[in-house]
Order: sequence, then structure tokens, then C-alpha cells
Amino acid sequence: MKIDGVAYRTIWLAKDGWSVDIIDQTKAPHDFAVARLTSLEAAAHAIRAMLVRGAPLIGATAAYGVALALRADPSDAALEQACTLLLATRPTAVNLRWALERMRRHLSALPPAERAAAAYAEAAAVADEDVAINRSIGEHGAALIRQVARGKKPGEPVNVLTHCNAGWLATVDWGTALAPIYVAFEEGINLHVWVDETRPRNQGASLTAWELNHHGVPHTVIVDNVGGHLMQHGMVDLCIVGTDRTTATGDVCNKIGTYLKALAAHDNGVPFYVALPSPTIDWGMADGVKEIPIEERDPREVTELTGITADGRIETIRVTPAGSPAANYGFDVTPARLVTGLVTERGVCPATEAGLLGLFPEQRAVA
Ligand code: MRU
Repeated sequence: MKIDGVAYRTIWLAKDGWSVDIIDQTKAPHDFAVARLTSLEAAAHAIRAMLVRGAPLIGATAAYGVALALRADPSDAALEQACTLLLATRPTAVNLRWALERMRRHLSALPPAERAAAAYAEAAAVADEDVAINRSIGEHGAALIRQVARGKKPGEPVNVLTHCNAGWLATVDWGTALAPIYVAFEEGINLHVWVDETRPRNQGASLTAWELNHHGVPHTVIVDNVGGHLMQHGMVDLCIVGTDRTTATGDVCNKIGTYLKALAAHDNGVPFYVALPSPTIDWGMADGVKEIPIEERDPREVTELTGITADGRIETIRVTPAGSPAANYGFDVTPARLVTGLVTERGVCPATEAGLLGLFPEQRAVA
């Protein structure tokens, strides 16, 4: 996508031909900064500290992390160590494991002397495939928005609610939940996006709002508790969210608070769609609530807020009484029964095992 007319991805090979550049998302929305990764450890840190985040981008960064590791040491031991270190950075997004398994499978079959070059090529393939997949999700999801638009009076926008950031910053490009919005917007469909702020890290208020702002898509930031009220008053036509891991049965794990939006949508008859690239499907899992590991992060993300002051300084303040403990669960699971449909690169399907296998029949052998 473009920033002030310049096309960007979230991760790319630097001009030196081996370092990896990323957009440092911890600086957004008040600054646009590019960070350079020159080692395995730097890639692991970028994922852990959320310079990069969002399930697909975590996977792509891990793939480049393996390439950086093998450039320094292409041995079997180094490959294993790199995968182990990277896998431990964040527990919930299954794209991380998917990317590392793909890299390990591809590279362990090669002689060590060929591994570094092959790792860079495979990481680039992971990144390019993510872009193509997300573009396709955009096309399939836009059809849902188009359908709603047909029932609108002239001048009336389609109101879409989204949670967290599942836009291009969460992927290599295009995004998942926001891809249909970008495609529909480019088509000229009149739409408006309700952006959940998404406490505690505010990926909605800081990243989704930033993306939509740069693209000129009409949007309004709301606090996380507003969605139910809007739905009761007919002010949301559909919800589209992303996911960090979706089970083979259609249970959807996504940023904390997604479940409450799905419950409100269900109660108010608002369609609730989940956009996902196939590497986000955990084909080996059946019960999302019981089985998906939920990340718990530093409680200071709850007790503190960071923002920009009127005179342009970035400051962090505490919002809770000193000494009050806080809990910081990063994700929750929305059971499949609350999901209207899954929007994948191969089309839209019911959030069921049969629905997913209908689009991905090659997984029947695995299921
Ligand atoms: O903690 P984050 O910012 O990595 O969480 C991101 C999300 O929950 C996204 O909705 C999800 O990764 C889907 S991204 C296309």
C-alpha cells in the first residue's frame, strides 16, 4: 500500500541484499520509522517486542529470521536453534509455526552451502504469497460488502466494524480484514469503518486508524465497549475481523475482545465475518477454547498508556492506582457458531470443518 504516494510493504530485503527492513510499528501512529534487522536475535526481538505484529507478518518475519541465522551459520544445529528461538517469541499466531516448519522442511533437505541463498528465496516466497493471498481475500470479501451496498439508499454508507489491526500492517501487504474494505473502497462503494480502539495496545486506534487515514477511507475510532450499542441501533451492517489461529472446525482466535463483538453481533443479527489466509488455519486443532495457547503479556500494557502530548512529546502515563494488579490476556476465542463465514483466498465458507475442507480438499488426508 502507499504512504504519501510511495508504495511500501511491511518487510523487505534491504539494498545491501541481505539485511531485512521492517516498518517499526511501535512508533506508529506518531512517527514512521524503518528498522533494520541484521541478525536472528534482531528478528526474534522484533516479533517479541511487536515492532512487527499480526499473524501473517509474524510468519514472514520469522522466515527472514531463519535466513539471517543461516547466513551466519548454515549448519543443522543453527537451523534448529533458529527455529526454536523464533517459535518461542509469541505463542498464539499459528502462522509463526507454519512459516518455521516450511523453512525447516525446505532447508534441511539441502547441503549447508546452499542453505542461506535458499532461505532468502523461500522467505521472499512466503512474503510474496502472503500478498497474493490477501489480495484474493480482498476480492472475495468485497463481494460481501457489495451485496450490502446494493440494499442501501443512495448516499447511505455500508458500515463495517473491525477489531484490532488486520490491515496491511498486520501482513506483508493488503491485510486480511481490511483487504475487502480496500477493494470495495477502490471500486467506489460508499463505506464507513467503525474502528475498535483495541485496548490494551490500541492497534485499532493507532494502526488501523493510521492505515485508513492514509488511504482516505472514512472511519471513526470507538472505544472497545461501543460496538454492542451501535449494533442495537442498526449502525453496523457487518463485522469483519482477522484471526491469529482458526481451528479445523472454525473456532476463531483473535485479539482480546473479538468474542464480545461476536456475541453482540449474534444477538443483533449482524453478520460476523472472519478474514484469514490459509496459513492461519491450524488443521490439527478441533477445540479452540480448550486448545489454543493464549498469550499473556506484560501487565504494564494495561496499567499504562503511551501517546503524544500537545507539544509533540511521546509520553507514557499510568492510568491505574499504584499497586493495583492487572491481567493482560492478549487473545480470545470466538466459537464457530458465532461466525457467519470465513473469508479465505479460495472464497467464503461456513465456519465448519466441512466448510473449510470444501475449500481446502487437500487437507482431507490430514484431518
Ligand atoms: O497482538 P497482535 O497485534 O499481533 O494481534 C493481531 C491480531 O489480533 C490480528 O487481528 C490478527 O493477527 C489477524 S492479522 C491479519
